[in-house]
Order: sequence, then structure tokens, then C-alpha cells
Amino acid sequence: MNKSLLGASLVTLALAAPLAQAHEAGDIILRAGAITTNPTADSSSVKVDQGPLSGADLGGKATMSSDTQLGLNFAYMLTSNWGIELLAATPFEHDVKLKNTALSAANGKLGTLKHLPPTLSVVYYPLDAKSDFQPYVGAGINYTWIYDEHVGSDASAAGFSNFKAKNSWGMAWQVGADYMLTDRVMINAQVRYIDIDTRATVENNAVAPGTRARVNVDVDPFIYMVGLGYKF
Ligand code: NI
Repeated sequence: MNKSLLGASLVTLALAAPLAQAHEAGDIILRAGAITTNPTADSSSVKVDQGPLSGADLGGKATMSSDTQLGLNFAYMLTSNWGIELLAATPFEHDVKLKNTALSAANGKLGTLKHLPPTLSVVYYPLDAKSDFQPYVGAGINYTWIYDEHVGSDASAAGFSNFKAKNSWGMAWQVGADYMLTDRVMINAQVRYIDIDTRATVENNAVAPGTRARVNVDVDPFIYMVGLGYKF
């Protein structure tokens, strides 16, 4: 095929492509993609709150690693501009580390935890429904269910046990965009900030029987997702 024929074919293809229709009332949108949770993880110092050393401030702070999983969005359009959306994902797993505490055996990896952060949001698409490019903003409520907390092997050898972290309710904000490839298929990118605050506790009977330490962690992650969507 020579160049002018190829050019003519592309023009014909472009003219023949169905007019992409963006979102309208009653649409159900399913998106799937790679989702990364990157905790900002600011924390209080580590304090002993039970046992003979109760009240001791060990200083330091807790940090958390990031993790990538399969993210899912289920959205329902109430009008061509307003929708509701549920975020779901396969379980995230994070390493929890303590650093710079006065108890050198406590510094390093304390353990791991898993969590699921279902989030229900109201989303607003400001552009005209005919636009193929559909940026949006959203705000909603998050429930983070933390489970399967485990003390790591080094921390376990140092006497740590019974690591626990509390579940969290908080606000969630997001910006994102859909770009319609056809009248049903879209590519999507989104960023969220979720207020997740937890209190973690861990026991250590080797330091002194009945000793428990706690740390308040503002997990407050940025969450990034890129993927494909399909409109039903
Ligand atoms: Ni927070």
C-alpha cells in the first residue's frame, strides 16, 4: 500500500468510526486496573501503654511500604454529570517498620498487615456529555478493614507478639479521567487521597512481662490507578 492510499484509508477509518458517546444517566461503568497504595505514614512516637514500663516514650516512628493490586471501580451515573462510585481491590499487604526508637531491638521490620479499603464516592464530571475526554472529581467515605497482622521473624525473635491495628473510617478525595476509545470502552487514570488513621499495638513479654507498646499512624495514602473501563 502506498502512502497516499494509506492516508486515504486512515481518513475513511476516522470518518467511519462510531461517534463515541460519553456518560449519561443510567450508565453502569466497570473499571479494572493496577492500583497502588502509597502510604504517607506519619506517626506518633512509640509509647509503652501497658506493663511495668507503662508511660515510657520510646520515641521513633512507624513507616509502611507501598503495594500494588488489582483495583475495581463500579460506577452508576445518576445524570450525565453526577455519579456514585464504589472502589474495591484485591487485598493490599504492607510491611510495617519502626525506626529510631530507644529500644534498638524494636527498630526494623515489625511485621505485615493486610487491608481492604472499600470507598463509596460521589463523582462529578464537569464536561459536556458529548466529550470523549471526561475528567472528574469525587469525594466520599472510606472504611479500611485491617486484618491478618503478623509479627515478622526478626521481631518475633526479639520477643514481639500479638501485633494488632485498628480499622478506620475516613474521608476520601479523588481526581480522575476517562477517555472514550469507543462508545463503550475507555481508558482511565485516577489519583485518590484517603484519610486512614489507625492505632497499632504490639506486645513484648521479653522486655518485661505484660509490656505492650502502641503507635498512632496516619496512614493517609495516595492511591493511583490506571486501567480500562467498560460502559454497560
Ligand atoms: Ni489522617
